[in-house]
Amino acid sequence: MSVETQEYINGMRPGPLTSEIPECMRDKYTVVQGAMDLIVFLLVVVRHIVRAIWQSIVGAPKKELKGAVAVVTGGGGGLGSLIALRLARLGCKVVLWDINKQGLEDTVKLVKGIGGDCCGYTVDLASRDDIYRVAKKVHEEVGRVSLLINNAGVVSGQYLLDTPDHLIQRTFDVNVLAHFWTVKAFLPIMVEHNSGHIVTIASMAGHVGVAKLVDYCSSKAAACGFDEALRLELEVRGATGVHTSLICPYFIRSTGMFDQVNSRFVPQLNSNDVADRVVLAIRTNETLAVMPGYFRLFMPFKWLVPWPCISEFLRGLVPDAVPINSAHAPQPAAPPAPVLPPSKPDSRPMTLLQPSRHDRRV
Ligand SMILES: NC(=O)c1ccc[n+]([C@@H]2O[C@H](COP(=O)([O-])OP(=O)(O)OC[C@H]3O[C@@H](n4cnc5c(N)ncnc54)[C@H](O)[C@@H]3O)[C@@H](O)[C@H]2O)c1
Repeated sequence: MSVETQEYINGMRPGPLTSEIPECMRDKYTVVQGAMDLIVFLLVVVRHIVRAIWQSIVGAPKKELKGAVAVVTGGGGGLGSLIALRLARLGCKVVLWDINKQGLEDTVKLVKGIGGDCCGYTVDLASRDDIYRVAKKVHEEVGRVSLLINNAGVVSGQYLLDTPDHLIQRTFDVNVLAHFWTVKAFLPIMVEHNSGHIVTIASMAGHVGVAKLVDYCSSKAAACGFDEALRLELEVRGATGVHTSLICPYFIRSTGMFDQVNSRFVPQLNSNDVADRVVLAIRTNETLAVMPGYFRLFMPFKWLVPWPCISEFLRGLVPDAVPINSAHAPQPAAPPAPVLPPSKPDSRPMTLLQPSRHDRRV
């Protein structure tokens, strides 16, 4: 490393310049400093592990959300509406974003029905311009947003070679790129006040591959990377009061997205439990919430065991993520979809089925 580079890493000077250390001491200095760095790193690791164990026993302190303005994307249905209800209960001003106008109106009514403070904005999250326009409106009409929940998601649910290009594009627009635009719209004011929280609703599909979900899995993997890199960037910038949480659930029952999934061994999650878990992660500034929790133990195996073992396990666990009779699969009788011009991508939500709400509670 040149002297200049050493001096100007991140605008900070990491240590004495090489030229300042006597030549006979250079090797020794490097070894001693390396050993010291390792010891300090191990002490920090032990401290955090002990704290995490302690908090898992006694519970982590929960922060108050009363009065916070929370934007929930995809809040017009499914998991988003359940999270909205819980946040309203805790005293948040809930701002719902969704492309589904009817779902939005229903959820606003539902939240107001329990005495919550809520409003809805129709937004197409596949459109960057729409996101920036509505974010500005929210700032002006509602106030400073301190909690952003990037929850909206879509799935195409077909084999890659059967998936039209515009659906792949839309999956990435809604599941990943929208996170960039919403964060760019709301993060500056959070950093300015050194207070805020950004939640990424990803999926276990961001950590493992599933057939028929190639676009979905890769978009969720990108969302996981987005959260981690953003968290690190905030720490590097010293914005210690702005937190991020990554939520990775397995398949959820009764939201409409994966209702038909054929999953063995592990039951689908209850949507209320997932919503409760999301709110707990927010209140305790948890960085990663995996559901079910024991899936964390399986993750390291992915890097350790040969691929055929993983393939065997995944194919056994999820024989078919989107069975042919699902609403997401192509219907043989349906007329061929019109080819859309590239400037007007199809941004309708894939969840056309009205999700059954039998296991939801307010
Ligand atoms: N359902 C599951 O099994 C499951 C599992 C793991 C992770 N997730 C993730 O949880 C999140 C919520 O999923 P869900 O199960 O509630 O799905 P859902 O389909 O019930 O809800 C998604 C919401 O996003 C909205 N939306 C879709 N496209 C939009 C767009 N272009 N602009 C604005 N809003 C749009 C929909 O209208 C809908 O209200 C998603 O990110 C999903 O990927 C779901």
